[in-house]
Amino acid sequence: MKNTVVIGAQWGDEGKAKITDLLAEKADLVIRYQGGCNAGHTVVTGGQTYKFHLIPSGILYDNTTCFIGAGTVIHPESFEKEFNELKSQGVNFENLKISPLATITLPYHIEVDGWSESNSGKGKIGTTKRGIGPTYTDKMARIALKIQDLFSPEALSEKLDMILPVKNKTLEKVYGIEPYSKDCITALCEKYAELFKPYVAFDWQEILNAYKNKTILFEGAQGVMLDIDYGTYPFVTSSNPIGGGAATGSGYGPTMIQEVIGVTKAYVTRVGEGPFVTELKDEIGEKIQKIGHEFGVTTGRPRRCGWFDAVIMRYAVLVGGITNIALTKIDVFDTFDKINVCVAYKDTRDGKVYKSYPTDVFIHKYLEPVYETMEGWKQDITGIRRYEDLPENTKKYIKRVEELVGARIGILSVGPDREQTIFRV
Ligand code: GDP
Ligand code: IMO
Ligand code: MG
Repeated sequence: MKNTVVIGAQWGDEGKAKITDLLAEKADLVIRYQGGCNAGHTVVTGGQTYKFHLIPSGILYDNTTCFIGAGTVIHPESFEKEFNELKSQGVNFENLKISPLATITLPYHIEVDGWSESNSGKGKIGTTKRGIGPTYTDKMARIALKIQDLFSPEALSEKLDMILPVKNKTLEKVYGIEPYSKDCITALCEKYAELFKPYVAFDWQEILNAYKNKTILFEGAQGVMLDIDYGTYPFVTSSNPIGGGAATGSGYGPTMIQEVIGVTKAYVTRVGEGPFVTELKDEIGEKIQKIGHEFGVTTGRPRRCGWFDAVIMRYAVLVGGITNIALTKIDVFDTFDKINVCVAYKDTRDGKVYKSYPTDVFIHKYLEPVYETMEGWKQDITGIRRYEDLPENTKKYIKRVEELVGARIGILSVGPDREQTIFRV
């Protein structure tokens, strides 16, 4: 296997974890490079369902080292909860490593996220309320704590003297949140140090060097359309889920990446606010939601559902750097007579047709999808394991999607289980 990045090509929840878990078997190192516990990643195997948020989805293999990279944000309490839940399912954490450069989500980041969501009216993003935006904001403003600070009383003390005067003023004056004392944060950090101590890779440079000539899998969270630079801004997350994010968030440069797999559903879902041109607010959308069990892993919110959108997929192939596609949840259409695919957008004001993605999302309310309709296959495909055995109409659908998006579909997923996968040779 080449060094591969797995990214979401839509608005998240495409089935990235299933694909990462599958590929992790052949990887020596799996690195999660951005995001935090806003992610909800599901792996189903051996009759068990594992839910990951921050811990790399490669952790189920004993011989794979799993690394939480510098580009991530870590909320210690959520990490502890995830860790304990997975431990109770028998997961082994011997190979888990955490970058000392990862950023810490503190309690006030969660409070600010909640406050912003409740007070922004129409500007509400519909975040996961995991403090993601406020943590990345502080990182960019250079007033965040990193994992390594937990282990250096001097750094912690000096940094808190720099951070707290500014932070507390904003917390009190803008958000009406009680200020945090230095003693309170220091005591929390002592607790966090105990929690992370067995896993922090102070020797991360030696580790990354040691794996340079081995096989590396970079695990993305969220998806291209939630990217802070290329997504449906401002209705996005605060990191770079695109393939390029792997180069900034992992500790390896872009020359280490040989392949980018874009994971996409055979339809589209979105959680939270923001434009979604192919959204179905009718019984077809409800049918997809029901059959596809489209409810968020992290927040339990129902996911909005719509037809496959080749406009965003072409865009994701370009800006995500996608070389190969994994098409998931094709089985959700097993009972459908007709399947629509959006090939372009049409502006209802002047009839203008967009084949490329219009990045001004404030005009999306005027856009309607231009559909091509394909025949369904009306057959249970969840037990099929070879491409040749798929119904003709499924193959036609796959071929048309490839033509429309300009990239090859190398992996097909026909059910949640690790086994329910077809690799095309
Ligand atoms: P991620 O965030 O991209 O890793 O995806 P999630 O885990 O949030 O959501 C994907 C959901 O679809 C999970 O419940 C998976 O178990 C499930 N899933 C993945 N691939 C397939 C598939 O091919 N068919 C079906 N029916 N379910 C799938
Ligand atoms: P995975 O990795 C789907 C969405 C939120 C919200 C926006 C900003 O499981 O695909 P945030 O809490 O990040 O500030 O929220 O991004 N969002 C996701 N949607 N899957 C995810 O992760 C998501 N992570 C964040 O719903 O719209
Ligand atoms: Mg998810």
